[in-house]
Parts: sequence; structure tokens; C-alpha cells
Amino acid sequence: MQIRQTNQLLNFDKFPNFEKDIDLKQRAWIEVKGKAIETNVRQLRSKLSKNCQFMAVVKADGYGHDAKLVSEYAIKGGASQLGVATLNEGIKLRSSGVKKPILILGNLYTKRDLILSFKNDLMPTISSIRECLICNNIGKHFGLKFPLHLKVDTGMSRLGFEYNKFVQQFEKIKSFDNISIEGIYSHLSSADELNSLNPKSITQLQRQKFLELLKQINVERNKNIKIHLANSAGMLLDKNFHFHMVRVGLSMYGYKPLSKLKNLLLKPALSLKVKVAFIRTIDKGVSVSYGGKFVSHRKTNLAVLSIGYADGVPRNLSGKINVIHNNKFYPQVGTITMDQMMVDITDSTEIKVGSTLVLLGSDGDKTISPIDWARKSNTIPWEILCSFKNRLPKVQVD
Ligand SMILES: Cc1ncc(COP(=O)(O)O)c(C=O)c1O
Repeated sequence: MQIRQTNQLLNFDKFPNFEKDIDLKQRAWIEVKGKAIETNVRQLRSKLSKNCQFMAVVKADGYGHDAKLVSEYAIKGGASQLGVATLNEGIKLRSSGVKKPILILGNLYTKRDLILSFKNDLMPTISSIRECLICNNIGKHFGLKFPLHLKVDTGMSRLGFEYNKFVQQFEKIKSFDNISIEGIYSHLSSADELNSLNPKSITQLQRQKFLELLKQINVERNKNIKIHLANSAGMLLDKNFHFHMVRVGLSMYGYKPLSKLKNLLLKPALSLKVKVAFIRTIDKGVSVSYGGKFVSHRKTNLAVLSIGYADGVPRNLSGKINVIHNNKFYPQVGTITMDQMMVDITDSTEIKVGSTLVLLGSDGDKTISPIDWARKSNTIPWEILCSFKNRLPKVQVD
């Protein structure tokens, strides 16, 4: 009998057309509850005064949740603006049919990018007179005003006009006829630190600097300019940080940026699930995975899960995490590999090849949060959420 040849045409008519019916849950996937986002936005908005707007921060593909889906449900929950990091994120969101104002939080500095921003009805963040001039010229070309937000650096030392020069520069900016200053904002560097209510903390000093600047430019005279400063932690800290709008990411996705916020009930919108691809039994004293870091101390049943660091699970979590199946935890053992990891399922009689296990999210009364992973891998939950790769399909489960 011949071996199947490369490029040989075969007739598969007797089999279903599997390609047409792609199984998103074939390997590992992210489940997103849009309703949780909507509920979180509602709950967070209830802490704002009536006139304070909610900007849903959906950069990095909605913190790994799917920016389009998050935007849709955040808007249902009452978000009136969206924030992205890059021009391409903004263009993608606009072309997916989102109509609300979109602010690009990152910096655009070429004429080309600023034209594309204007063309796609996106507002850029402006940090220099030079960028302002480009926008003004683009506006002039169309006989229109180019809407944008000005950013001032109050202590983050990232983007934004230099604090000490802003008042003088603002006088010049006001004379540009073809821009419309929709907002003036700054960004908090340390609002999630435990001391941020202390009057001498970086966060309070940033707020004071921002207030001082707003007073100097007489911003109350212009009612159309939205003033904004707070991220999730800033918003939850104190009403004094709310101004006309808050820019909220992490807490909208269901995670508290400050553990001390006891009576805030947020719903995590994301679960990470994986199928068992293979099961093997090893004797006592057998090493598992690269480097042989784990050696079985008993006869062990191992489930091989189809997920690894190429999917965004940090390799430095090797041997430190659990997975959940039917309301029970099972320990991950050995080094996490690029595409797979092993779990000790000796104590389970139910787990089979094809069973679904929960890596992040809840099952029964057990929960594993990105905050747990972050703590164990010495990072922050933001990084955990943004690390998931495109290889993981996103499935809405409302
Ligand atoms: C400028 C800006 N505003 C708001 C946010 C939202 O922050 P958080 O996810 O902490 O709410 C971010 C996120 O990093 C940001 O860069």
C-alpha cells in the first residue's frame, strides 16, 4: 500500500466538513462574560456623581478579553467613552462599528498617524506643541476643528506636557483655531499603593499639582473641556479624584486594584479553560518535564493539558498553581512547557482525556484569580491579563 503523498488530492466527502465547524474549545480558550463587564460598569458608575463620565479602558484587546466585546457591554453598562493605547486598536474598534468617542492614550507624533486618527474619528493624546501644530494644520486643511486631549505630566514622567511649562504653552495652544481641546488629563503613577490616602503620598501630590495647574489656566471658563485623572485605583480611592471623567480598566474587568476595598463586589469576566489532551501513569520516583524539577513521591496519574507559556501562562508559575475540576483543586507539577503542562490528578476518579479544567475563574465554590497568579509570579494582574496570546480563542458565554 502507498504512503499518503504531500499535495495528493483525497476525497473526504464521507467525513463531515470539520473546517467549517471550528471547535473553539478544542484545546485551551478564554471565556468572557459580557454581562459581568456590564454589571461592573454599572456598579462602578454608581460611585460617581451624575455628571461624571466613565471611560472604559479597552487597550491591549480589552485587557485580553476582546476589545469589541468589552466595549459593547461597557457601553450597555453606561460607559460613554473608550480608551485604547494605539492607533490600530482605535481603527479596529471604529471599524467594528463602535460609535462612542475613542481616546488614544498612547502618543501619535507623525503627520501620517495624526491624519489617520482624524480620518477614523479618534482623539489623540497630545503632549507637545509640535503635535498640536500638526493637528491644527490637519484641521485647517478640512476647514474643521481636530478634537484632541492634552496630557500633562504631574509625576508619572511618561507622556504629557512638562508640568512647569504647560501654563505658558496652553496660552499658545488656545490660539490654534483648528483644534478642539476636548480634555485635559494626567495619569496617576501610584494610586494602588497602600499609602495613597496619606496627604504626603505621591498620589495626593499629583492631584494637588493637577489642581494647581487647572487653577492657573482657569479651566472652569471652558465648560467643554473634560478634566480627568483617575484610573481604577484613583477612582475607588476618593471622590476628589473623579473630576469630569474616570478612565477605568482593571476594576471594570472584575478585579480590585486595592485589596482593602471590602464592600466592592466585582465580577471577574474572564475564565481560562483547557482540555486534558492525554493521561499517563508514572511510578514513584519518576521526573516530570524539562529539567526534572518535579519527581513523583507516589505512583501518579498525570494529566497533560494543552496550554503552555506560548499561550501566555507565565513559565515562572511552574509548580506553584492549581487547576480546578468539579469543585476540587489539582496541583500543576513540573516545568510549564511552551504548549503543555502537567497536573497531578491521582486523587481524581472523574478526569478523563477531553475533560475541561479551569486555570483561571471559578468552578463550584473554588476560584483562581489573575491576582493569585500575579502574586505567585511576582508581577501584577494587568500583566497576567495582557499576556494571553491570540492562539487562545475567546468565547463569549452569556
Ligand atoms: C492613561 C491610562 N489611563 C487609565 C488606565 C486604566 O488603568 P486601570 O486598569 O488601573 O484602571 C491606564 C492603564 O494602564 C492608562 O494607561
